[in-house]
Amino acid sequence: MAIESSCDETSASVCRDGKILSNYIANQTVHEQYGGVVPELASRAHMQNIVPVVDLALKQANVSLPEIDAIAYTQAPGLIGSLLVGSQFARSLAIAMDKPLIAVHHMQAHVLANLIGDPQPAFPFLCLTVSGGHTQIVFVKSPSDMEVIGETLDDAAGEAFDKTAKIMGLSYPGGPLIDKYAQSGNPKAFAFAEPQIEGLDFSFSGLKTSVLYFLQKQQKENPDFVTKHLADICASIQHRIVTILLNKLKKAALQTGCTRLCMAGGVSANSGLRKGLKELGAQHGWEVFIPDFEYCTDNAAMIAITGYYKYLAGTFTPLAESASARATW
Ligand code: KG4
Ligand code: ZN
Repeated sequence: MAIESSCDETSASVCRDGKILSNYIANQTVHEQYGGVVPELASRAHMQNIVPVVDLALKQANVSLPEIDAIAYTQAPGLIGSLLVGSQFARSLAIAMDKPLIAVHHMQAHVLANLIGDPQPAFPFLCLTVSGGHTQIVFVKSPSDMEVIGETLDDAAGEAFDKTAKIMGLSYPGGPLIDKYAQSGNPKAFAFAEPQIEGLDFSFSGLKTSVLYFLQKQQKENPDFVTKHLADICASIQHRIVTILLNKLKKAALQTGCTRLCMAGGVSANSGLRKGLKELGAQHGWEVFIPDFEYCTDNAAMIAITGYYKYLAGTFTPLAESASARATW
């Protein structure tokens, strides 16, 4: 059984022999009115959710607690108050049930979400991991051997979506809203420059600033500019974020010779990015894998699958190990 509580989703999942039997996710709506996740409110909501969520995940899987072989949980990185709720709950269960405990790195779990379902990528593969806190290109040699070969120097891709959405007055999280409005817009309507960053690293803070200045300038002449051109603005922002991400992934594939491409993290739910990755694969004859929608945003199934591989490898965690907001890879 696995527990995820690193940010604002409380989730529990049961996995048997590498197959996900349940993946229950409780979203926290309390943050919407604040334009971002409020850490203290997130911890409190996790406290309220954790018992019923674990209970529902066991029921959905038709598995009783004594049948569980091990308990996996997200140990890092994330909001410390949120992580502590899940980790303390997992530790308490492990002690009470006398079962092994398995600490999981949240970002490695996003990558291994690609090993849920069918077909699965063979090793090695490259994974573009794009979430609200991270943007990475990971070279994955095995479930326990992966290396970050490119990452953002400032904002994450999810932040680029959320912050530009906020500038337009859209609610949090703005990523799914930009995706929705972009569907009926012209991606070439407004040109936002692509940052020139060396190697495989990314930068998104310049895009946020150029969107801000562009809209301020337009709104001076036409106060209704955003409302009138919402679809075109969203499509243009999304187009730029997607091209920044995919150009670097393409570069990584050519540089490493590894042309099996996967995607993970909340932003991989973006329809433009999913379409763009498929087109990139088709253009070059490269294999492409994208996890099902429910395994892209934060979920405990990805913690369960990572826990499963750690269980097979006999990698268990001492009960004394604590959660950590930051984590070395
Ligand atoms: O992986 P995730 O659920 O949580 C973190 O670990 O950060 O990612 C959340 C991020 C948010 O920034 C959200 O706006 C973004 O994923 N996101 C999207 C879409 N769905 C979620 N961004 C663009 N398009 C989407 N459809
Ligand atoms: Zn995440």
